[in-house]
Amino acid sequence: MGRRKVAVVGLGGIGGVAAACLSLSGDNDVTVCARRPIDALTFDHNDDSVRIALNTLTDPQQAEPVDWVVLCTKAQDTASAAPWLERLCTLHTAVAVLQNGIGHEERVAPHAKGAAVLPAIVYYNGERIAPDHMRLRHIRGHDLLVPAGPRSDEFAALFAGTPIDVGASDAFLTFQWRKLLINVIANPITALTRQRLGVFRRADIEELSLGVLREAVAVGRAEGAALDDNEAETIFATFLGYPPEAGTSMYFDCLAERPLEIEALNGAVVAAARRHGIPVPLNTALVALLSAISDTNAAAAATATAP
Ligand SMILES: NC(=O)c1ccc[n+]([C@@H]2O[C@H](COP(=O)([O-])OP(=O)(O)OC[C@H]3O[C@@H](n4cnc5c(N)ncnc54)[C@H](OP(=O)(O)O)[C@@H]3O)[C@@H](O)[C@H]2O)c1
Repeated sequence: MGRRKVAVVGLGGIGGVAAACLSLSGDNDVTVCARRPIDALTFDHNDDSVRIALNTLTDPQQAEPVDWVVLCTKAQDTASAAPWLERLCTLHTAVAVLQNGIGHEERVAPHAKGAAVLPAIVYYNGERIAPDHMRLRHIRGHDLLVPAGPRSDEFAALFAGTPIDVGASDAFLTFQWRKLLINVIANPITALTRQRLGVFRRADIEELSLGVLREAVAVGRAEGAALDDNEAETIFATFLGYPPEAGTSMYFDCLAERPLEIEALNGAVVAAARRHGIPVPLNTALVALLSAISDTNAAAAATATAP
């Protein structure tokens, strides 16, 4: 395979780590599409720290078509990245979407000019220590998982020889729902209580979490995910093994008064439940509460940046 043109859109924790790793492969010409100019970043992995030069654009008009786009904005920022996709995509481009939630194709395809859209489950932790300083932590198994198919090998090849391990699975939908199940309790409950994962050790929070999970499991099964009868209990038990001092991205976004990724998480469960006529009152309540917070944060941010 020859050299590949790759654009990373969004230089946060996930995009920063992806851009660093893609740049470590000699076969990729990497362009970073960001909202601020960053010419180099420090990449920490295990005990190593390296400084990596970046070719960063801040104006979509300067972008040119590429072979691969790796989209790393939060789900709610997908539409705002449309000007980048407009310039980067052709019918020969593939867009890998490194975002939480489900429905990546539906979210991205309308902006991708007929390019193929490849959803990816992100299992790695990407910490943005500073705008130009990222740390990669491996959580378990693969760092990224994509659906098995014609594009999966090509996508994995982008990261060959780098610290990011890409897997492919025929059971992608099931893994996607399992990841979503963790997110539909971890993110909203830490954000609403403003407490880290230790809050899940409370009996009342356990009862609430299991209720939220059982609703989401019913919806996931209706969508075709092969979830077990005791999936909710298994997910919760696994979850209790996570460090109590760990936060979630919605917890940090809530504290920083930023818009929240609620529509892509519990909002996706509520939308799918509606398609199948399944009642999901607990997920609906979480979406209402967090949408109110998110909309207020978005309005405040818009006022702050208004001329
Ligand atoms: N971080 C993790 O460990 C982790 C783990 C698993 C899954 N995920 C998921 O991965 C996705 C990305 O998460 P993240 O933690 O990397 O989020 P993040 O740190 O908030 O980074 C998102 C980046 O996108 C940029 N952005 C937003 N709109 C843009 C636009 N129109 N043009 C260019 N850049 C734009 C933001 O720019 P600004 O810096 O200017 O705001 C920010 O740098 C989310 O769906 C998240 O849930 C994250």
